[in-house]
Amino acid sequence: MPNCNECRWLEGSTCKAIPTSWPVTPVNLVRACTIAINEEYCRLITAGTRVLEIGCGIWSPIYEHCKKVGAKYDGIDISEYYYGQRTIATRIESVEHLSFPDETFDLVIGNQTLEHWNESGCRPEKGLYQCFRVCRVGGLVLMNVPIHFHGARMFVEGNLEAINNLFSQFSSEVHFIPWRRHSSPLKFVDLLENYSYPGERGTYTLAIKAVRQPPLPAIPKGYHCRWRPIREMLDHKVDFLFYKMWKQVLDAWHKVSS
Ligand SMILES: C[S@@+](CC[C@H](N)C(=O)[O-])C[C@H]1O[C@@H](n2cnc3c(N)ncnc32)[C@H](O)[C@@H]1O
Repeated sequence: MPNCNECRWLEGSTCKAIPTSWPVTPVNLVRACTIAINEEYCRLITAGTRVLEIGCGIWSPIYEHCKKVGAKYDGIDISEYYYGQRTIATRIESVEHLSFPDETFDLVIGNQTLEHWNESGCRPEKGLYQCFRVCRVGGLVLMNVPIHFHGARMFVEGNLEAINNLFSQFSSEVHFIPWRRHSSPLKFVDLLENYSYPGERGTYTLAIKAVRQPPLPAIPKGYHCRWRPIREMLDHKVDFLFYKMWKQVLDAWHKVSS
């Protein structure tokens, strides 16, 4: 369901996916797509389905649905607390060190987390290797990420080829669904306004679906620097780092002056 004008959540010129409890901010206008995407994930979950959610944080329609239908839910997060609230994780661990045995789950789901793994010191390919390892053969790895917003460079720049290469190491059945890429009649949102990135402008949500196939490749190798600022400097272009700093200064200024 890539285009807003075809989406079942569109009513007139309003996106009804946005919960009334969410402030209507540009970020939430885009994030609303995760509600619709999770509704699709939930259709795959029935009694007995074994689900692992990566980077579950404190908000999970998947957790609520699993409880309702009698599916087996596990969630992991690298942090016990997120914005001061306890996460719903059943295990606190990083995705690159998943402690579940091979092929434990039918579905491995990640809402808006993959783009942040680099920030927490996890190489995306190492985390994904673990997601595919704990997923049964024929099961699905389902991730959704914002494009042209934040996180690792391939997501900031919307480099679909790099994202596809990342997943193709583990599966030859990788599908992309870009949600809100064509947002008409809804408001066009560009969360990287004034930053020049390649390709079409606009922030959207990319849903990625990959089928777990045998055999898995060898565990990806590669050094990851321990210090986040250095990792970010190695990942991003200098002009993006300056852009981010400039935005942080502006945000701080707005907070102080309001
Ligand atoms: C933007 S939040 C999204 C949280 C939740 N999925 C949601 O949609 O509200 C990103 C989450 O990924 C988690 N995370 C980041 N790096 C991680 C890693 N290496 N392993 C596991 N979780 C990670 C963060 O702690 C955070 O809870």
